[in-house]
Amino acid sequence: MASTLVISSPALADGTLRDHAAERGKFIGAALATGPLSNEAPYSTIARTEFNQVTPENALKWDATEPNDNQYSFSGADQIVNFAVANNQIVHGHTLVWHSQTPGWVQGLNATAMRAAMQDHITTVVGRYANNAAVRSWDVVNEAFEENGSMRQSFWLNTMGQTYIADAFRFARAADPDARLCINDFNVEGINAKSTAMFNLVQSLRAQNVPVDCVGFQGHLAVQFGFPNQVQQNLQRFADLGVQVRITELDVRIPLPADDTELATQNTYYTNMISACNNVTACAGVTIWGFTDKYSWVPDTFSGQGQALLWDTNYVAKPVYNAVHTALDGGTPGDTTPPSTPGTLTASGITSTSVNLAWGASTDNFGVTGYNIYRDGTLLNTVTTTSTTVTGLTASTAYQFFVRARDAAGNLSPQSNTVSVTTAPGTGDTSPPTTPGTLNSSAVTSTSVTLAWGASTDNVGVTGYNVFRNNALLTTVTTTSTTVTGLTPATAYQFFVQARDAAGNVSANSNTVSVTTSPGTGGGCSVAATVQTQWSNGYVVQPITVTNTGTSTISAWTVTFTLPAGHTIVGSWNAAFTISGQTITARNMSYNGTLGPNASTTFGYQASRPNGNTAVPSTYTCS
Ligand code: XIL
Repeated sequence: MASTLVISSPALADGTLRDHAAERGKFIGAALATGPLSNEAPYSTIARTEFNQVTPENALKWDATEPNDNQYSFSGADQIVNFAVANNQIVHGHTLVWHSQTPGWVQGLNATAMRAAMQDHITTVVGRYANNAAVRSWDVVNEAFEENGSMRQSFWLNTMGQTYIADAFRFARAADPDARLCINDFNVEGINAKSTAMFNLVQSLRAQNVPVDCVGFQGHLAVQFGFPNQVQQNLQRFADLGVQVRITELDVRIPLPADDTELATQNTYYTNMISACNNVTACAGVTIWGFTDKYSWVPDTFSGQGQALLWDTNYVAKPVYNAVHTALDGGTPGDTTPPSTPGTLTASGITSTSVNLAWGASTDNFGVTGYNIYRDGTLLNTVTTTSTTVTGLTASTAYQFFVRARDAAGNLSPQSNTVSVTTAPGTGDTSPPTTPGTLNSSAVTSTSVTLAWGASTDNVGVTGYNVFRNNALLTTVTTTSTTVTGLTPATAYQFFVQARDAAGNVSANSNTVSVTTSPGTGGGCSVAATVQTQWSNGYVVQPITVTNTGTSTISAWTVTFTLPAGHTIVGSWNAAFTISGQTITARNMSYNGTLGPNASTTFGYQASRPNGNTAVPSTYTCS
């Protein structure tokens, strides 16, 4: 009896994540837990084969390494470090100074004793691995900020003052001068108040020669909260300070049960994070916070949410594994090999205004993506075929053409041979057509208008009419009427037309008609706001999703809401805020006002409120 071989998804992926990351000079890592690493073969197999970097998920935290003063325990940490060494993986030490998972005996110390305990702890923990070549980097300080960008009111800050941060970095540098020392936090992936506070701190610490070498962006994302703003730009602005950057704890959780849309969003978020790191030279790599849904902090921490990782609870790779694989594998890293020279370039079909060019295909190690066409040494355009028609030439004029092949990395082949072309003599016709008869508009809707005009005459013959909208050529037609579509409701436009003949002569402009499209029927918008996070004296509302619920395109939107008494806006993004007392009016920016039917866009804001006040705005209206 024949048996059926069931190949679990993803069958298409070729090579491991670590191979592809290494090809880019990046790491791809996972947080590892000690229990399954010793007890479950599929766990250690995936950890070993797919990742070239590991972070102990809990084994290097203070409560694990020094549960009591000066009683150190490194069994879990050593287990993971030894695993990494055996499997040619690098290790990121997480974490030395954090407000969480730090024993009570530390939290109760006075400033002098706390500083001494910190020095002893850092010296001992970092010192233990200082000569281990696999252990390259440390999260020296973790989660030092509140969401609004102020310093977190932790026992560290409250006991030692803000110098605890500089002290910690200096102790770590002394313990291992070669280790890369990082500050790490969450909700700092995009540009926002918190990441800007972190940026300012890193800049100022480095200006004071505090040894901060690296910034970690945790990357605990959730499909329901939207993708952070401008992640790549954020990584780049830190990189421009001279620090290494890295994604340290990536996972993308989903409210359960997950639907197809949420799974697709999750793929996109993973892809976007990996790509952002790929695109920033100073980004060392991405660590995923675990790899199997069987061992993920998400369900324990965010109730009703899960499926945040790449393998399911049975160690079967999920489609999101493929998304990560593709994001790591997809490019042509370091490709400096140009395509071969195109085959012989020839010209044919020469008229007074045009010529056909054709050439032989080039080859490339990764693939030719197009051909640049040059006229008299200047780039004219780029095509993906091996022939093109060049138009708009002048009669009886000599031109020279060559082409060059290009690849995805932008490498250009040598030039093809040059062909010299002299266009045919023109007809000698220099008489333009007469001015078109009166231009009229009719049938104005919210998105379209019909234009009609009187025919022009010409000594040889009218070949068409150029239709201009707001002084820009929109289209050329051969009839004396046209319907212009795709307009924005309630918007003024101006139109005129010109006649043209075969020799390219154009008539004078017709009269101009001004048309204002109608407001549109069935217009309307809805707004939905999510409180992403809140703390005792503030909150972030994001995403606020504006959706065009009408049947025609809208070009602007306005959302209004009321701030509870005593609350103030401290920052906003993707909308222009007008504040009048407690009434807030948020209008679209230039780039997100136009929404087709069913389309939506998002914005957000951060507000402060009196300590202990738990109110948030309740009603948002959209018009
Ligand atoms: C989490 C671990 O995954 C859990 O197992 C543990 O119970 C709590 O901590 N930010 C960090 C990580 O820097 O150390 C946290 O790890 C997740 C959030």
